[in-house]
Amino acid sequence: MSDAGPSGRHSLVRRLLTPRWALPLLLFLGACASDAPQDTLEPKGPIARTIDNLVNPVFLVAGVVFVLVEGGMLVLLRKFRRRQDDDDSELPPQVHGNLRLEWGWTVVPFLILVGVAVPTVMTVFAIDAKADDATMTVQVTGQQWWWEFRYDTNNDNKPDIITANDLVVPAGETIRLEIRSNDVIHSFWIPALNGKKDAVPGRVQELTVEADDPGTFVGQCTEFCGLSHAYMRQRLVALSRSDFDSWAANQREAAKMPTSGDAAAGAELFKGVCSTCHLARGINDDDFAAKMDEQGGRALLESGVAPDLTHFATRGAFAGAIFNLWTDTNGDDIVEWNEIGQPGAFNTNQLKAWLRDPPAEKPMHAVLESPHSRGMPNYNLTEEQIDQLAAFFETLD
Ligand code: CUA
Repeated sequence: MSDAGPSGRHSLVRRLLTPRWALPLLLFLGACASDAPQDTLEPKGPIARTIDNLVNPVFLVAGVVFVLVEGGMLVLLRKFRRRQDDDDSELPPQVHGNLRLEWGWTVVPFLILVGVAVPTVMTVFAIDAKADDATMTVQVTGQQWWWEFRYDTNNDNKPDIITANDLVVPAGETIRLEIRSNDVIHSFWIPALNGKKDAVPGRVQELTVEADDPGTFVGQCTEFCGLSHAYMRQRLVALSRSDFDSWAANQREAAKMPTSGDAAAGAELFKGVCSTCHLARGINDDDFAAKMDEQGGRALLESGVAPDLTHFATRGAFAGAIFNLWTDTNGDDIVEWNEIGQPGAFNTNQLKAWLRDPPAEKPMHAVLESPHSRGMPNYNLTEEQIDQLAAFFETLD
């Protein structure tokens, strides 16, 4: 072959393009994104900042250790490498039994580990103690493949707000989350606000979150939970106290039944087709209870396996928060609070695509009548029905 020689820019580029180099290079460069919303190293709240204050010095220590060990190894490998005129029968000087060396490489790592362990344990306790400051508890339930949030705002031990995808909280307050799972293990993670916490069936796991300022913080399920694990996202929407209070007051209300046009027809359709799984309080409570009765007498006020849609249009995203429900206007691909509910900005096209064939939009094992069905099946709706449903959903504000 007439390949370029070992030197020269051409052969370097060519070498970097071989799979052996290209893959690590790609991974390395992947770490350089500057506007990554799920960056765990840019804390946006006191709890995440506590973690960051631990991570930075520990990373520094680890970095120094890495450079010293790897550097020392390279020097030694070079200095003591086998040479042509070496006498193969001759052993290099042996250091076994050298007390000074052996004490050294036992005591120094011990001291380093103690130096790392003390602040680590203190951080764990500091984060744990934050739960005592909590002003509110939200029940978080992982499902295949979306997150449900339940609030008991009047403290009667019954949820009065049930929502999905968007965890709405007041900014500047510590919120306690009680995390459960309805099926398999998931993991709740909003990198800007705290670490991860697994959602484990049969257990209640606690996590606290707090955002400094109002904003929308995105996260991702981080425990492999089946087919659409990669499409199970979550958003935390932090609002000012007064905005949060008006949000909560609205969420507690039932949905208003539309009285005319496509939306009214859509509401009727919703009662018939969607009532097996979805609830919109004020629209299909009765049908829903009846449908649940048919299915084993579970006359619940919430569906349990499908998102409550009572105030669907107040959310920024749908279908496990993978699709924006409203137009993103500032180009960060995240629908913020002020972008929700803008006239003409409802993402009707994506919603219609979803209604037309949900499993085509998101991998799901959605089989009608199957007890192991997961996700939303294709109901083979007509275009007219899809228009009516989309019009109805836009009224759920
Ligand atoms: Cu839920 Cu991965």
